[in-house]
Amino acid sequence: MDKPNLIAKLNEAIALELAALIQYNQYAQVLLGPERIVWEEFFAGNADESFGHVKKFGAKVVSLGGKPCVEPSEVVQTNDLTEMLENSLNLERNAVRVYTEALEFCGNNVAYRNMLEDHIEVENDDVEEIEKFLNKIEAVGTARITSSKSA
Ligand SMILES: [Fe+2]
Repeated sequence: MDKPNLIAKLNEAIALELAALIQYNQYAQVLLGPERIVWEEFFAGNADESFGHVKKFGAKVVSLGGKPCVEPSEVVQTNDLTEMLENSLNLERNAVRVYTEALEFCGNNVAYRNMLEDHIEVENDDVEEIEKFLNKIEAVGTARITSSKSA
């Protein structure tokens, strides 16, 4: 296990989670109009989830002998729902990338590898859900739905 690099990488993840917490919370607050009925809860829920991740990995950074990051990465503000979702997708994709990079520094420490692998699945689920919201799922080969008439 490469502790210095793992601490640095987890702090990179915490910076993203802090940005996600602030950004999702801001979106939940500023979104107005009929869309608010559906999306306020989504953004507020994701803000809570991100705060949970800030606490989870901050605790791990301390256990590893480091100091948890307190500086968020870039927060992107908007009042437009589609832009909110695009910005959210960027954040979640970055989270998957950084947690995946963190895996490299776990060596053969099974507990940390397992924790990160489970966590990457959680972040990846968020990515896939937002891709569905934005209709960004690409049909692959025979997975394309065709009507029986055209078959
Ligand atoms: Fe997260």
